[in-house]
Amino acid sequence: MGQVDGKIALITGAAMGIGAACAVRLAEEGATIILTDIDDKKGESTAALINSNGGRAEYLHQDVTQEDQWIALVNDIGARHGGLDILVNNAGIAVVCESITEMSLEDFHLQNSINLDGVFLGLKHCIPVMSGSGGGSIINLSSVAGLKAAPSLAAYAMTKGGVKLLSKSVAKECAVAGNGVRVNSVHPGIIDTAIWNKMGLGADVPGENRTETSEIAQQAVPGGKLGVPTDIANGVVFLASESSSYMTGSELVIDHGLSC
Ligand SMILES: NC(=O)c1ccc[n+]([C@@H]2O[C@H](COP(=O)([O-])OP(=O)(O)OC[C@H]3O[C@@H](n4cnc5c(N)ncnc54)[C@H](O)[C@@H]3O)[C@@H](O)[C@H]2O)c1
Repeated sequence: MGQVDGKIALITGAAMGIGAACAVRLAEEGATIILTDIDDKKGESTAALINSNGGRAEYLHQDVTQEDQWIALVNDIGARHGGLDILVNNAGIAVVCESITEMSLEDFHLQNSINLDGVFLGLKHCIPVMSGSGGGSIINLSSVAGLKAAPSLAAYAMTKGGVKLLSKSVAKECAVAGNGVRVNSVHPGIIDTAIWNKMGLGADVPGENRTETSEIAQQAVPGGKLGVPTDIANGVVFLASESSSYMTGSELVIDHGLSC
């Protein structure tokens, strides 16, 4: 028996990195995976990898900032799968700016639209279909930057702090409503993915040329240990499963002591 056997799971931003690892691990534990992203090529290949290893996955194009795409996706999942059990609001970007005084309003809105509008829209449109099929588990990707200051990433930290309190508030709404939907946030530390490269800080090829990302971890993380996407995915599997059935409104920090 897998930990999430027979469950239907939607994971956003799952073409690569932490989202792809969540898709792989949830599939290994028995869930049927709907993985979405804006990078169709990588999304298709992640789905193909899961299917070739005996899992069940399909890739669908979705920009999490677009409400009409959420509505169409949730209707499609309801019609074809009869409900939704697990939502991982993972899609995110990090816009680096040395000083907040130099940040353009355009970049500020871009940071917000993916990291906060995307999570808001996921909650808004998935909770009704989840509660209609007996409840479920929502896992929102925050960050250590949602727990403590992140200079040069002030707007990113603001969105991740927002994800934390949005998760807690909606968790309470759902608990009081008795709709069976649990909502928790996950707070990764320094994990080896392409997000560092996109920030202009990390490796060109995550997992291969990790010098810079490793150096960042070396300086910041107790013991200098760099995390891998599966470290986060294992926590997501736990929050998605019945093993965490008494957890809602919680922050699961996975950072090797970075935020202590
Ligand atoms: N890697 C880390 O060290 C780290 C640390 C803390 C938190 N996080 C969070 O974990 C999550 C995943 O990050 P990652 O490191 O895997 O990043 P990543 O850059 O490797 O992957 C992010 C994915 O999101 C997708 N995406 C971007 N904009 C999108 C949009 N508008 N709609 C749909 N998909 C979109 C990208 O195409 C990509 O596949 C993010 O929310 C990030 O903030 C990462």
